[in-house]
Amino acid sequence: MITTQFTELIGVEHPIASAGMGGGATGGELVGSVSEAGALGVFGASFVPPDELAKWVRRVRELTSKPIGINLLLHATEERVDEVLALEPDVFSTAWPRDDQDLAAIFARAHDRGCRVMHMVPRVEDAERAVAAGADVIVAQGNEGGGHIGEIGTVVIVRQVAKAVSPVPVLAAGGFVDGAGLAAALALGADGILLGTRFLAAHEAPIEPAYKDAIVASSGDDTVVTTLSDSLSGRDWPGAWVRLRRTRFVQDWLGREPELRRRRETAFAQLEAFEASNADDGLMFFGQSAGLIDSIKPAADLVREIVAEAEEILRSRLPTFL
Ligand SMILES: Cc1cc2nc3c(=O)[nH]c(=O)nc-3n(C[C@H](O)[C@H](O)[C@H](O)COP(=O)(O)O)c2cc1C
Repeated sequence: MITTQFTELIGVEHPIASAGMGGGATGGELVGSVSEAGALGVFGASFVPPDELAKWVRRVRELTSKPIGINLLLHATEERVDEVLALEPDVFSTAWPRDDQDLAAIFARAHDRGCRVMHMVPRVEDAERAVAAGADVIVAQGNEGGGHIGEIGTVVIVRQVAKAVSPVPVLAAGGFVDGAGLAAALALGADGILLGTRFLAAHEAPIEPAYKDAIVASSGDDTVVTTLSDSLSGRDWPGAWVRLRRTRFVQDWLGREPELRRRRETAFAQLEAFEASNADDGLMFFGQSAGLIDSIKPAADLVREIVAEAEEILRSRLPTFL
């Protein structure tokens, strides 16, 4: 058993969280399985219709009575904060606010409902802003991760944030898949890890089999950092890059973002055609951590294996250096 400030504060057995991946990449089965295994399962509520989210939460409550989280990307979803809080998550997970948003007011609404607030940041300044606004846990997110990311590598940002916000607990995100990663994160001053890509390649993740297979097949060097998918969606992110797989679609449009903004209809049609013929030519968001993933497993097995490996490293390998 690894006990940290994170496990104590949130009331979970293990210092592990699954990422609240938006756009339908999480789901009741994944979140419920992660939480029931003793970690913190987090729904990604962004770009998921309210009725679907409510259905997922009902499903997760059938699977577990342990703590769960719900994530919102604040820059695009502030109007959904009360809808999400009404679903009574134990943890309100947030990321990517705009500079003009009043984080203290948003976090206070969550605290009034009895939720803990877990906020993800790509830079130290963002961590300090969130702590000043009352965040209970900070997730420091490095550039290796999948989806929207900042510019700083995980080893640096985690250490920077852990030093800057101590004693507020920090989770490390970006590149973690196993117990070695958990042990390393603890050494850097984090109180646990948050994993996105690893849980996408879980049995329960509600994504296409070809997407999971691409993660398993990846050696970690087939991703690229771009803003291309945001030019396509037309969403204005507050200074984020995105890491995704270098598929045929991505290869076609890289470096042509202004044209992509003009020709979104063409690009959507191209995506549909790729999806109809071969699902792994379209958009697949995942991190360099895919290079460390070689199988698709049940989420509960992943949680158990990560903890067991980290315990073994902490107990047997690290003391031999002293
Ligand atoms: C498909 C996908 C969707 C994501 N969506 C969100 C999201 O909606 N909100 C959020 O806070 N983070 C989101 N993330 C980022 C994760 O929270 C996390 O920082 C990242 O996955 C960690 O790196 P890893 O993928 O190497 O584990 C997403 C990540 C992926 C791969």
